[in-house]
Amino acid sequence: LKAKMILDKNYKIAKVDERIYGSFIEHLGRAVYGGVYESDHPEADDQGFRKDVIDLVKELQVPIIRYPGGNMVSAYNWEDGVGPKNDRPRRLELAWRTIETNEVGTNEFADWAQKVNSQVMMAVNLGTRGIDAARNLLEYTNHPGGTYWSDLRKSHGYEAPHNIKTWCLGNEMDGPWQIGHKTADEYGRIAAETAKAMRLVDPSIELVACGSSNTQMPTFAEWEATTLDHTYEHVDYISLHQYYGNHENDPANYLAKNIDMDHFIKTVISICDYIKAKHRSKKTINLSFDEWNVWYHSSEADKQLEPWLIAPPQLEDVYNFEDALLVGSMLITFLQHADRVKMACMAQLVNVIAPIMTENNGRAWKQTIYYPYMHTSVYGRGVSLKPILSSPKYDSKDFTDVPYIDCAAVYNEEAEELTLFMVNKHLEESIPLSCDIRSFENFRIIGHTVLENDDLKAVNTAAKQAVVPHGKGNSKVDDGALEIILPKTSWNVIRLK
Ligand code: AHR
Repeated sequence: LKAKMILDKNYKIAKVDERIYGSFIEHLGRAVYGGVYESDHPEADDQGFRKDVIDLVKELQVPIIRYPGGNMVSAYNWEDGVGPKNDRPRRLELAWRTIETNEVGTNEFADWAQKVNSQVMMAVNLGTRGIDAARNLLEYTNHPGGTYWSDLRKSHGYEAPHNIKTWCLGNEMDGPWQIGHKTADEYGRIAAETAKAMRLVDPSIELVACGSSNTQMPTFAEWEATTLDHTYEHVDYISLHQYYGNHENDPANYLAKNIDMDHFIKTVISICDYIKAKHRSKKTINLSFDEWNVWYHSSEADKQLEPWLIAPPQLEDVYNFEDALLVGSMLITFLQHADRVKMACMAQLVNVIAPIMTENNGRAWKQTIYYPYMHTSVYGRGVSLKPILSSPKYDSKDFTDVPYIDCAAVYNEEAEELTLFMVNKHLEESIPLSCDIRSFENFRIIGHTVLENDDLKAVNTAAKQAVVPHGKGNSKVDDGALEIILPKTSWNVIRLK
């Protein structure tokens, strides 16, 4: 087996929007309470935020974080989470059937986001509420002062507005599980009217309309078309959500699932452009893939949990090595669509289907999926290039002609650095790849990091990091040719300068 590739600095897809390395914190399980916030933890800062978690989030360089849900937002009263903490109500949180103490709300989250150098992507409740609650929240967060809601914010100790730029118009409103679930026409109308009112409050915001909850939804495609028909001139992005799992323990098929994600992205782009043509619009709608990850390990454990607990351990998937490979391939897929995918949020960030885990009153630690996420976020900034790759292929249960090798390449023109992200999906063999990089004259390898493990099911725990990258990858540059050995089932980051 052998692979060949050509990489040229002129074959540009687009500049990478750094927000594709976004993430998500929902008031769900131990994401907020016991995750980012644990006021009696030895590492808690003066606001009760865990400094060890802040450090791990900062290492990931997460540019934007979606908040506060998720399914939770569809019955959330944002007013419950602002003002003096002692006056905040405890509520039944209906989406996940827990008790929400409201100790953390909009202002605290905005503070925390600043501490981790992120922007907030705020979602409004279009389930139980609508235009009024959304425009009031926006006035509260973004208006400088002199009005009821902006002065209320000031009275809560926040003199300066938070200036939140990116807003999601509800969450997964196509899903029958969603509180306040709507048909595409119902949703399209309320989304358009909410968007109009919100833009009157603050014309500088960017708005995301809800797309389908996943590709298997019976309304998929028609939902996007109808929703965009109503909202086209009022929104900037449409959302995509997708989670994958290896339920059948078929690694070859599992590792190919980013092909499904690629089809999903291409289909949604087509729908956006169809509605653009239909409306004779000059505007292009881009994609916000604002929930994506592996999610399946915890499904059975979640069924055993009692309702109405505070911060129970929900959706606590422990990720293995093969999950990290698929996560790497999904990140490569986003980079290959850098021209239209402008935001993406790994769902989620702490404890809940997350790269970062915590023990209550104990350690914070990195899951296997932390590494490909960190590598792409830190090194994948610049222009996404189009690699001309010819890779050997395989067939699996659901896919044919799956390239063994996935590749994305990012050229940071300022730093004159080229980074290749590659996955080898072959379960038994390493694959040598020869890449023509003649347009990168005099470039030399400055690092080849590899994540590999003989056991696809190896996991990390609080006590032991069994799956960690090493820097001993095998690659060299020889007369304009980059020669790389991609070990079997591996994630590779090759950096040149
Ligand atoms: O991320 C977990 C859940 O998955 C979110 O609350 C919901 O939007 C999606 O179904």
